Amino acid sequence: PMDGLSPPWYPSPKGGTYLQWQKSYLMAATLVSKMSLVEKVNVTTGTGWASDLCVGNTAGAFDAGFPPLCLQDGPLGIRFADHATAWPAGITVGATWNKDLMYKRGRGLGLEHRLKGVNVMLGPAMGPLGRMPGGGRNWEGFGSDPVLQGIAAAQTIRGIQDEGVIATAKHYIANEQEHFRQAGEWELPHAISSNIDDRTLHELYLWPFADSIRVGVGSVMCSYNMVNSSSACSNSKLLNGVLKDELGFQGFVQSDWLAQRSGVASALAGLDMTMPGDGLIWADGQSLWGPRLTEAVLNGSVPIERINDMALRTVAVWYQLGQDNQTLFPIPLEGNPRPNFSSWTNDKMGHLHESTDDDTMVVVNNFTDVQGDGKNFHGRLAQEIAAEGTVLVKNGDNILPLSPSGGPEHTRDRRRAKYNVGVFGEDAGPNPKGPNACADRSCNDFTLASGWGSGAVEFPFLTPPIEALESTFDLDQVQITQVLTNDLPDDWSAVHGTQDLCIVFITSDAGEGFASWNHITDRIDLYPQKGGDDLVKKVAASCANTIVIVHAVGAVILERWIDLPNVKAVVLANLPGEESGNALADVLFGRVDASGRLPYTVGKSLSDYGPGGKIMAKPNGVAPQQDFNEGLLIDYRHFDANSITPRYEFGFGLSYTTFTFSDLKLKTLKPKTPLPSPRPNATVLPPTFSTLIPDPETAVFPAGFRKLKNYIYPYLDNSTIKHEPYPYPPGYNTAQPLSPAGGGEGGNPSLYDEHVSVSVNVTNTGKRTGKQVVQVYVSFPSDVADVSTGRKIDFPVRALRGFEKAEINATETTTVEVNLTRKDLSYWSVGRQNWVMPDGEFTVAVGASSRDLPLQGSW
Ligand code: NOJ
Repeated sequence: PMDGLSPPWYPSPKGGTYLQWQKSYLMAATLVSKMSLVEKVNVTTGTGWASDLCVGNTAGAFDAGFPPLCLQDGPLGIRFADHATAWPAGITVGATWNKDLMYKRGRGLGLEHRLKGVNVMLGPAMGPLGRMPGGGRNWEGFGSDPVLQGIAAAQTIRGIQDEGVIATAKHYIANEQEHFRQAGEWELPHAISSNIDDRTLHELYLWPFADSIRVGVGSVMCSYNMVNSSSACSNSKLLNGVLKDELGFQGFVQSDWLAQRSGVASALAGLDMTMPGDGLIWADGQSLWGPRLTEAVLNGSVPIERINDMALRTVAVWYQLGQDNQTLFPIPLEGNPRPNFSSWTNDKMGHLHESTDDDTMVVVNNFTDVQGDGKNFHGRLAQEIAAEGTVLVKNGDNILPLSPSGGPEHTRDRRRAKYNVGVFGEDAGPNPKGPNACADRSCNDFTLASGWGSGAVEFPFLTPPIEALESTFDLDQVQITQVLTNDLPDDWSAVHGTQDLCIVFITSDAGEGFASWNHITDRIDLYPQKGGDDLVKKVAASCANTIVIVHAVGAVILERWIDLPNVKAVVLANLPGEESGNALADVLFGRVDASGRLPYTVGKSLSDYGPGGKIMAKPNGVAPQQDFNEGLLIDYRHFDANSITPRYEFGFGLSYTTFTFSDLKLKTLKPKTPLPSPRPNATVLPPTFSTLIPDPETAVFPAGFRKLKNYIYPYLDNSTIKHEPYPYPPGYNTAQPLSPAGGGEGGNPSLYDEHVSVSVNVTNTGKRTGKQVVQVYVSFPSDVADVSTGRKIDFPVRALRGFEKAEINATETTTVEVNLTRKDLSYWSVGRQNWVMPDGEFTVAVGASSRDLPLQGSW
């Protein structure tokens, strides 16, 4: 299925084809028609790395009335900013399985970005999806399943965009590992090529992007890697074909930072904005677009329609999000720069154009506090999310929840005056140098609340676990002994005394490839770091009531101690963000139910995840080739297909109460039919513009123009343009048929018709209020022959297709409903190039995890 080639798809579909966007596109057309060619180019090209205040900036089109745009990381807060919330990471949010909290966090993110003056937020991340549990950036996204990832991404995007900030669905696509993601930085001439077959692309990696487009995401960021041997940012099949035609994307595609690898070719392939503007080297002022794009339009290499569409898409998104409202998004005036912070200094005064030769100092940091206050302090929401994203996986003797006066009654030694609690491990404590001691958080020192890279932020504060434990335990009754190091002597109890209860903290960290810690970017193994296993074993050797807390970027192998009888409880707290300690205490002391569920599988070893689960740590060629041979079988699908028993399965997590499921009802809302309705015809036509190529004179630097060094301008030095158009790529002149799966945002609207309603009763059979996540998995009929080839189609044993979290009081019953769409019940037929609902019997299984599915029905 993988020939390692990406077919051509031209010409680039124009934006402005759906009713929901019509008004914005009409206004945008009026504005763009006032733009000169250089102004249009300005909208498409960043001004260069660190040329302005944000990590990405465009220069705008002032005469036409379009402002510069500020694009800022990232997915879990505002990078390089002050007085902003350090939210729980995506993986923690995924672990909540709580749609409402996903939305609210998005809203909080959006509000904070807007108040800091950010137009485009560079998140959420939904790729990597988590093909490899060690993938360095999995933690920025929401978990290793396309449906969980898609729902969380869409909820986040709705939240961000409801605040008027443009969200970015990233990284498109298949940037599953950090090793070799780029050429230069990994000392290779070419980036890695993720080789994916068409069905796997659609059913796994593309799924969350489709969900994002369906809720109107304004921007998509193409990734560094190649896909099927064509760079993601100049891959016409993926950008023109899949994203813009099939998924009907109406926004603009921006490149990841220096991910653009070609000038004309990327424009033709569907890239709309290059970031940060520099071409192949950071901050050298040389762009593959900018003046080169101006020239390419003038000499006929890039059709004028393409540059019009590029500018139009960006301006249309700006209108669609209401950014023309100057109360919310004031246009920057002199002395009043927007954004109101600088990515390049923490001082009040700084340069507006850091990487240039402009030394003028102005106020660049206003220190605007955007964290909310009083009841609306965002920390409270961050804490609630971190607590719900904490997964309790083991709770022997019901040792948890703890009581502030000590452990549960049954662990208490009455002969002692005080109950003795030992807290072990550096992860329990604060970094004496502050939570931001390492640049971009690229180290694993002291308490771990975030991974590293562009997805990390400056912590405004970070509540370490020890602080929350000290303030929650009643110190009149409890004696806490802190041993906040991982280097514990074997006879530690002789030194620190025997303890009634021991809480041990361990970690596993990872991050984006531009930085590393201890040679780690991706995790080559999944064991706890910094001697965590030994620490647990030592403590457990002489502490009968040991509780292990794991802060980690993803799955961690627990096998070296999980079955020790003294290890009573294990809490996987993921990456909680600024309110780490408080959120953990909420769960440990039962102020909230333990209601997190695993957004990934915890295997017993890395090889349990299969060959595809391993990071390629040594390149297998000058252009490393990574074949996604496992197809659909990643994470739990691999475990299920190969009957491998994981330590803790996808979707698993304990509560402090118990639940039963009953009364599964499947109701047909629409009958089974193999194909979606025919692709609807476009009801709206894209705006049109004059196709006259402007006079090159209009593109020349104005007389007396003051150029800043390294700043990227759209202008040419002179107007002698040679008419030697760059040759169009092979396949350019063969227009592709429109996809039958297209016709709406996120694809053919009929794919989202609901065909089955699944309803189930959930009863809280325990003694306290708790939250349960009702998970719905679908197994496809057996013996399905593809409509197009007649060949047998294989399916995963089961796949998550929906979920709902419900809060239920003790002894009460709630009915939960999840509806399944046509797409949920279809496979991607490569031959048919469409979603096909197979004939035969589907099994719908409902329960508390991917392996605890007490109820089943057929449809
Ligand atoms: C590269 C990262 O891959 C991307 O996620 C980020 O948004 C940009 N750098 C900008 O910092």
